[in-house]
Amino acid sequence: MIKRTLVRMTIWNSAVVFCLLIILGGALYGLARHRIYSDIDRHLVFNMDNLYQYTLPNGEHVLNVNWDDPERFFMTFYWDSNDTLLQSIYYKSPYDKLAFKLRKKQGQLEPESIRVGKRTFRFVSRPYLGNLPMLEKLSDKAPLKTLQAMTEISTEIHYLKLLLMSISTGIGIGALLSVIAGYALARRALIPIQKAWDKQQQFVADASHELRSPLSVIRGQTQILLRHPVHTIEEESAPISAILKETKRMRNMVDGLLLLARGDSHEEVILCQSVRIDGILKEIAKKMEPVMEYKKLRLGLHVEGSELLINGDEDRLIQLFMILLDNAIKFTQADGQIDLECLRQGKSVLVTVKDNGAGIPEHDLPLVFNRFYKGDASRNRGYHGAGLGLSIAHWIIDQHQGSVHISSSVGHGTTVMIRFPAMS
Ligand SMILES: Nc1ncnc2c1ncn2[C@@H]1O[C@H](COP(=O)(O)OP(=O)(O)OP(=O)(O)O)[C@@H](O)[C@H]1O
Ligand SMILES: [Mg+2]
Repeated sequence: MIKRTLVRMTIWNSAVVFCLLIILGGALYGLARHRIYSDIDRHLVFNMDNLYQYTLPNGEHVLNVNWDDPERFFMTFYWDSNDTLLQSIYYKSPYDKLAFKLRKKQGQLEPESIRVGKRTFRFVSRPYLGNLPMLEKLSDKAPLKTLQAMTEISTEIHYLKLLLMSISTGIGIGALLSVIAGYALARRALIPIQKAWDKQQQFVADASHELRSPLSVIRGQTQILLRHPVHTIEEESAPISAILKETKRMRNMVDGLLLLARGDSHEEVILCQSVRIDGILKEIAKKMEPVMEYKKLRLGLHVEGSELLINGDEDRLIQLFMILLDNAIKFTQADGQIDLECLRQGKSVLVTVKDNGAGIPEHDLPLVFNRFYKGDASRNRGYHGAGLGLSIAHWIIDQHQGSVHISSSVGHGTTVMIRFPAMS
């Protein structure tokens, strides 16, 4: 799926860059062509519309061919009403071929290009308006009919072709680079998606794996029950309570999974209000007394100062401390000590849950917040946790803008330190 997306994204990225290059290249070429042609056309039209005759002091009549671009070579063609070209000086190759073509274009009032062999010319025609009597003398057979101005544009065409070739080469190279860059960009953009995808796959695989064992227990115990349909509930209390235990375990796990999934999709929100964290800890310590007694553990509560207020969700905070206490109880042997500490430190409230239990090996410490992670201590001792407790705890701490640090030493115990922003 990711590979197909990578190919698709590469195609899209490069197609967009390629289209942009074509648009830019086309615009550049069009602009250059327009500038060159409009310049030439302006001169042609200006020349044609400003032809006039004047008389020198010695009485000679002169035609003012006021070419306004001295760099450019312009020619004029004068046609009589018999379509004969006056001024036969132009009857030389290639101008004879050109004149042949121009004869047919006497009605062309807008500038136009004409090709003769490999050369290109631009011309414009104007009907004779009777204002140049000296030209009329050139023809004794028929009256003057059309004037044409012409200039060669072969050099401009050549440079425009060169420009087009350079732009096309640029677009070609750009297209190739855009494919390479498009691929690299798509790969980069897909890294977090790939990670999220892998994480999701792992999550589903782990969840299915974790759900499988309680389901097989339930299935096995139900089959035992079905073997003795006449037995009373009392007689079958062992498999029934095993089923009940496993369903409870499954329910806890599904609840945890649901909470994490909703947290991931930002559906699960916490409702913040000012809460007394010292109050919550005292309440939990009281609630846990019977469990501590049963497990032969001592619980020390150290709350500093009076009111330790933070902005938080009371139910979620209780859930957080229960997760940490549950771990401390689970992984501490009888006669062990668990300490709950809460104090204000600058602008933070610091909560510490400390035990002198089994501890976590150093190489496992970075993994304990991973979903479904269970350490050797948990697996070997036959605890049936899902490995979701600390993931949920981390999510709750994040939601409260808090931070968590866990330190541990095998055989000596574990300390979890949580820092919340204090309310002033
Ligand atoms: N106080 C602790 N002492 C020793 N090991 C701990 C402690 N807290 C966590 N761990 C280790 O970290 C692992 C992950 O803890 P977490 O609470 O996420 O899962 P769990 O307790 O195994 O299962 P669950 O909390 O879902 O019932 C545990 O399996 C255990 O190996
Ligand atoms: Mg746990």
